[in-house]
Amino acid sequence: MTSPQIGIYGLGTMGAALALNMAEKGIAIAVSNRSAKGVADFMDRAGPLAERVSASDDLSALVQALPQPRTLLAMIPSTGPMDALLDDLIPLLSPGDTVIDAGNADFHDTRRRTHRLAEHDLHFVGMGVSGGENGARNGPSMMVGGSDHSWRHLRPVVEAIAARYNGAPCVAHLGPDGAGHFVKTVHNGIEYADMQMIAEVYDLMRNGMGQEPAQIGQHFARWNDGPLGSYLFEITGTLLQAADPKTGKPMVDVITDSAGQKGTGRWTVIEAIKLGQSANMIEAAVAGRAWSAERAVRQDADATFGAARNPIDLDAARLEPALLAARVLEYAQGFRILAAASTEYDWQLDPGTIARIWRAGCIIRAKTLDDIAQAFDDGPPHGELLLSSRFSEVLDRGIPALRKVVGQAVLAGHPVPVLSAALAWFDTMRQGRGTASVIQAQRDFFGRHGFGRVDAEGVFHGPWWG
Ligand SMILES: NC(=O)c1ccc[n+]([C@@H]2O[C@H](COP(=O)([O-])OP(=O)(O)OC[C@H]3O[C@@H](n4cnc5c(N)ncnc54)[C@H](OP(=O)(O)O)[C@@H]3O)[C@@H](O)[C@H]2O)c1
Repeated sequence: MTSPQIGIYGLGTMGAALALNMAEKGIAIAVSNRSAKGVADFMDRAGPLAERVSASDDLSALVQALPQPRTLLAMIPSTGPMDALLDDLIPLLSPGDTVIDAGNADFHDTRRRTHRLAEHDLHFVGMGVSGGENGARNGPSMMVGGSDHSWRHLRPVVEAIAARYNGAPCVAHLGPDGAGHFVKTVHNGIEYADMQMIAEVYDLMRNGMGQEPAQIGQHFARWNDGPLGSYLFEITGTLLQAADPKTGKPMVDVITDSAGQKGTGRWTVIEAIKLGQSANMIEAAVAGRAWSAERAVRQDADATFGAARNPIDLDAARLEPALLAARVLEYAQGFRILAAASTEYDWQLDPGTIARIWRAGCIIRAKTLDDIAQAFDDGPPHGELLLSSRFSEVLDRGIPALRKVVGQAVLAGHPVPVLSAALAWFDTMRQGRGTASVIQAQRDFFGRHGFGRVDAEGVFHGPWWG
């Protein structure tokens, strides 16, 4: 057997899928796992691919199986277990070796671990992987941080296993230290907003327009064939048409209405705020998940106030342009956070490249991303997607439709936190002269903070200070 090109530690759902994908692409790999059972199960699953796999139950044997400089990918929880793994690995590795954390890490941890390994002349790569188990097995989208040295060794492996869009692999080296994990975090934040937006439209169609889940699913399936084409619309079209084998009811009717979350949406919002940004659509989506978890409170509030059951006067044809406009706005918000972080951490993130590697393999893959990549290549005014001429028609057509959808929803009492946030943001940003003069006057009034004037340079106070 040729010597392994890469080691994989952690053969759970994602690690095993990535390892099998590599072996299938002809890459010789070495694997190991905390429990020996994980290794044995993996070798069973590998079948004929096992001939490209060198397996061991022991971390030091895994390290020894790799030629130097070593490339070792860990797919385990990116929290405490990753630090514990590094404690064990550092004495086993040699200068120039690379450890990759391919889990969903907080990018602050990735930066800290990068510095820690650098003290031992070791390289640390934070790599975001999107696409779930199926993506990892058949072609994920991967967002890679770390050094050029690590990228040189990792590149042939990840380009071989990545999803492809028109032949181009959906993986790129995006920047140093935490860049890859940060981009993955924001990817997930956009994912939260898109999922919540879909759930809001489902509510309007189900409880406002009186449609059954299967009918709504057919709308999503049809929209998926048009400019809204995306993985999340595709699966929503399918899952809304599914029936529960036990009761025969629509599957969505027997699933509890409390959404889980693992933290990446929340991290996006926290980091955005720290960077002086506000991605209000992503904030609304994170809030939506949190509120969904408060079932007992919602049920009591329903008994007290009653949920909206009023019909709404909406034509499904209006929803498509409204959703497309909202999708452009949620991506625009995500890319603003990326731009702010790129400046703060000096990552030199290229938004066009990021849009391109999201076009296939990842959960937020969508037709719109091709236009977004081109819009960034054109260099929109102020780097803002909102101002790109490529989206003027989408917004000209979609905003009035979105206004109608949100207006009807609000009047009838249906909650649309993400769709209304989209409109609030758009309407705020199109105000060349906003209302913050009132805020400035208030601040000066109670705190003597001073304000600028439109007709003079300097800091001034109002007549309330005499
Ligand atoms: N599932 C997804 O769709 C998805 C998508 C993108 C990223 N991720 C990320 O991928 C990583 C792995 O997720 P997964 O879904 O593959 O989880 P999983 O199926 O639960 O597998 C976890 C793996 O980590 C190992 N592990 C757990 N605790 C450990 C410890 N303290 N020390 C050493 N090894 C330990 C497990 O070993 P044992 O076999 O010995 O228990 C197993 O190999 C996570 O960071 C997750 O956030 C997951």
